[in-house]
Amino acid sequence: MRIGIVGAGRIGGGAARMFARAGHEVLVSGSRDPGELQPLADEVGGRAATPREAVQFGEVVLFAVPWRAVDDVLAPLGSLEGKIVIDTTNQFGPGGWQDLGGRTAAQVNAERMPGARYTKSFNTLTAGFQAEASRRTGADRVAMFYCGDDEAAKAVVGGLIEDAGFVPIDLGGTADAAPMEAPRREGALYGEEYREAEAREAAEALRAGRALPPTPKY
Ligand SMILES: NC(=O)c1ccc[n+]([C@@H]2O[C@H](COP(=O)([O-])OP(=O)(O)OC[C@H]3O[C@@H](n4cnc5c(N)ncnc54)[C@H](OP(=O)(O)O)[C@@H]3O)[C@@H](O)[C@H]2O)c1
Repeated sequence: MRIGIVGAGRIGGGAARMFARAGHEVLVSGSRDPGELQPLADEVGGRAATPREAVQFGEVVLFAVPWRAVDDVLAPLGSLEGKIVIDTTNQFGPGGWQDLGGRTAAQVNAERMPGARYTKSFNTLTAGFQAEASRRTGADRVAMFYCGDDEAAKAVVGGLIEDAGFVPIDLGGTADAAPMEAPRREGALYGEEYREAEAREAAEALRAGRALPPTPKY
């Protein structure tokens, strides 16, 4: 698929490498001059351009910018109509974690991206850990949680998560995203390594409205 990366930093750059390794076409962008991203573009066999071009290029857009920059980045992007968006952002602002008044960060960002086929993923594990874990095989493979309100978009994103080297675990809609969102805390999945069996058990518990089983230790 054609994947436009908006914010090719630690998370976006890492995702670009994983998607390219799986044979996807990648375009990387950030706030800087595209020329500065050329080494990364060369590494992933793709192109470097502006965020707006990344959106025009991508059937899928991976969105990986700091929370505080979201509105500024979205403003010049143009229409996201029909684009499958994978949002990786976590709600950390100047004073640390942001309380969103009972809404999930996924709900807040989905609203800020009208027309987009919004999903959220690649946000619960550090960029360094993702790079390492994406190369694992068999029973050691790591779960990547995702959510969204558009089932067809989620099916595409589930496939891309698998291509990136993870086990996709569907946590439901944007209203169900809280357990996969910051901060790291007791009773949440955010920041924790899960492998397939425990991840499926956790997702099942959340669907049934039960407390999460204890966080796995490997
Ligand atoms: N780092 C992690 O381990 C991790 C883990 C999970 C989730 N996340 C989340 O993923 C998101 C990205 O984090 P990161 O660590 O990858 O950040 P990062 O390494 O600082 O990269 C941020 C990217 O956003 C771009 N950017 C910033 N302001 C911009 C603007 N106004 N217009 C266009 N592009 C802009 C930067 O471009 P330039 O470099 O060209 O300025 C850079 O490509 C954050 O929301 C974070 O909470 C991070």
